Amino acid sequence: MLIEAIMTDKIQLAFDAGDVFTPGSPINALDLFAGRSDQIEAILNAISQRGYHAILYGERGVGKTSLSNVLSQLLHGRKNSKFLLPRINCDASDTYTSLWRKQFNDIIVTETRMGIGFNADQIEVSRRLVDTLPEQITPDDVRRTLEQLSKGLILVPIFDEFDRVRQNYVSTLMADTIKMLSDYSVPATIILIGVADSVDGLIGEHQSIERALIQIPMPRMSGSETGQIVTNGLTRLRMTINNEALEEIIGLSQGLPYITHLLALYSSKAAIARDSKVVESSDVDIGIKASLGQWQQSVKSAYYHATKSQQPGHIYKEVLLACAVAATDDLGYFAAADVREPLRHITGKPYDIPNFARHLKELSQPGRGEMLSRTGEKRRIRYRFESPLLRPYIIMRGFSDHLLNKDDMKVLALTAPYKKV
Ligand SMILES: Nc1ncnc2c1ncn2[C@@H]1O[C@H](COP(=O)(O)OP(=O)(O)OP(=O)(O)O)[C@@H](O)[C@H]1O
Ligand SMILES: [Mg+2]
Repeated sequence: MLIEAIMTDKIQLAFDAGDVFTPGSPINALDLFAGRSDQIEAILNAISQRGYHAILYGERGVGKTSLSNVLSQLLHGRKNSKFLLPRINCDASDTYTSLWRKQFNDIIVTETRMGIGFNADQIEVSRRLVDTLPEQITPDDVRRTLEQLSKGLILVPIFDEFDRVRQNYVSTLMADTIKMLSDYSVPATIILIGVADSVDGLIGEHQSIERALIQIPMPRMSGSETGQIVTNGLTRLRMTINNEALEEIIGLSQGLPYITHLLALYSSKAAIARDSKVVESSDVDIGIKASLGQWQQSVKSAYYHATKSQQPGHIYKEVLLACAVAATDDLGYFAAADVREPLRHITGKPYDIPNFARHLKELSQPGRGEMLSRTGEKRRIRYRFESPLLRPYIIMRGFSDHLLNKDDMKVLALTAPYKKV
């Protein structure tokens, strides 16, 4: 039997949902890309003005790579200029030379030369650009190469995961390169992307290139932006969602598009499974449970280590959940006092700081999955979750383990435990 014959509409739709909601991979299609107009405008400004370069930084999973992917589509078809935006991923083994080799790897240059002999025709010679570069590449080599290329097209080399580069001198040389390209007014724009709280975390020597480097922080998404991810995707599937379910997905996403995709995928599959084209709150319940199983393995195993205990009646799960819903400062830090009220709410018992101070300390140690990082001196100790994906996972686990109900979650969604960076 032909595959098409057994592929019912319902199965097809479930497959399509997997193409539209893609928690595992960055967005490539413009119609599925939501929001981010400020960041896009800032980057396009850097590209369109000679002498400017850009640095895009933010938490893990906020959509940095997706943004860089849609840039070439946005620039496509601009009058007068042809743009090429090669994107490479940096890794811990990279040197300055290896980074630029990767950038130039796929570029072939064609030259027209005279053939040999009298009356000879012109011939075209193609060479790989990397083959023309010296063994050790310097900022000046990069400047000259980009200058030559700019006669035919404008190169916008994108360095993603720049935080992975281990050698300090690489970021110094990259700053030198940016300075040089800017001083020589070379029509090329370097874009650096990485996970960091601030520019300092990505490129130490940025003072010398302050004027040439447009700094673009990538905050979490607003509720309307994550909502748009859901509705954009469902529109493609010719499905809709009711308000209650949409609000739940927005609240649980906490501005992280990865979680929006995960929840939207499994909630829409739940609606499809019951032959409905409208996603409802009960589908989100199923979506939450299914999402927990699909979460990044590192998060699941950290949670397991954090909450396992031989002692009956232990409260690791509850303390962790209280941390996940505690109010934080702008950088995500909270103190033991911020955990007290949520813990009382979750357990219904009048716990005080001495009852759970030890738990907090342990949760920041390797034996309990190192979920929290600790900073500050005695009495001023503050904690922060190691990864932004831990918090929403713990909240959804809390719901699935009946430590929180949906009404609690609605309140939490209103007082979402994050602030825009
Ligand atoms: N503007 C957007 N519209 C719709 N979906 C998005 C958007 N931005 C990101 N996503 C989705 O969010 C998830 C994470 O995005 P992406 O991989 O681009 O983030 P990132 O910041 O590069 O993450 P990392 O720090 O891990 O490299 C992906 O599933 C992606 O499809
Ligand atoms: Mg990325």
